[in-house]
Amino acid sequence: MRNGQPFPDTDGNPIHAHGGWMLDYDGYVYWYGEDRRENWYVSVYRSPADDMKHWEFRGHILTTDTLYEETSARFDPRLSWEKDGAVRKVNIERPKVLYNAKTKKFVLWAHYENGENYLEARACVASSDWPDRGFVYHGSFNPFGEMSRDCTVHVDSRGDAYFVSASRDNADLHIYRLTEDYLNVDEWVKSVYCHEFREAPALFEKDGRTFMISSYCTGWAPNQGKWCSADSVTGRWGLLRNFGDKTTFVSQSAFVRRQRDRYWYVGDRWMGGGPKYFESTYVVLEIQFDGEGNPFIEYTDEPELFNG
Ligand code: GAL
Repeated sequence: MRNGQPFPDTDGNPIHAHGGWMLDYDGYVYWYGEDRRENWYVSVYRSPADDMKHWEFRGHILTTDTLYEETSARFDPRLSWEKDGAVRKVNIERPKVLYNAKTKKFVLWAHYENGENYLEARACVASSDWPDRGFVYHGSFNPFGEMSRDCTVHVDSRGDAYFVSASRDNADLHIYRLTEDYLNVDEWVKSVYCHEFREAPALFEKDGRTFMISSYCTGWAPNQGKWCSADSVTGRWGLLRNFGDKTTFVSQSAFVRRQRDRYWYVGDRWMGGGPKYFESTYVVLEIQFDGEGNPFIEYTDEPELFNG
């Protein structure tokens, strides 16, 4: 795999896992992400956990046909709608999946928009008994009435799960703790980085510190990534500091992959203009840490994570 080049699955087709996420389960790594082709929304691939080179396509886990199952009466159940007699797709972005050990469910969180514009600014939820099939949709909503766009999830070392998303027209980042079953937000814990317009958040923990990588808000165009850290997700977040170069090596953060004791930045290199502006290739770089434990990345063409 080369950064910025199409990355084939085991059938030789390019992997569509844009704005993605990886989940470890039962000896496999599941790679989820956006796939806007056909009537699909979210695709999943998997690789044996110690391999990371051979990604088998496993299915489209969220489509316009995904069944709805009510968890909260007033969440909006629609995954498509009609206009002038034609079926219109919605937009599902930055899907993330967690495994809930108490309920034994795989729970998906993502950013929902109506497909026409970005004004609904909602979170949406789905769940399944399996990591790669059987998902039912639980609807979209505004957490505590708030706008919610670019998003991620994070489970901290105490086992609490959080949903983090851009709010107030992307000006601020909100941190919500999830309910025990992960099917709703339980508490709006914090708002951070007021008026900094941070997007594409990606969290990870290392040596007792919680880190967040994020981008600035420039649509599909890449910009200077930043990192910041806190003593815990709910704690006091420090200053934003540069991560990568002025375009984050022409990428926008999607998630951080921890592979044994190494940490990898995974970003999207969006297509930019053209009809496939919402597709991306991937930019994968090892996160290194300086003498003070502060993270940084340098550019290499062929990331060891996917090349062995
Ligand atoms: C980006 C965001 C993407 C997508 C895009 C739409 O800033 O990170 O996920 O929403 O805007 O313009």
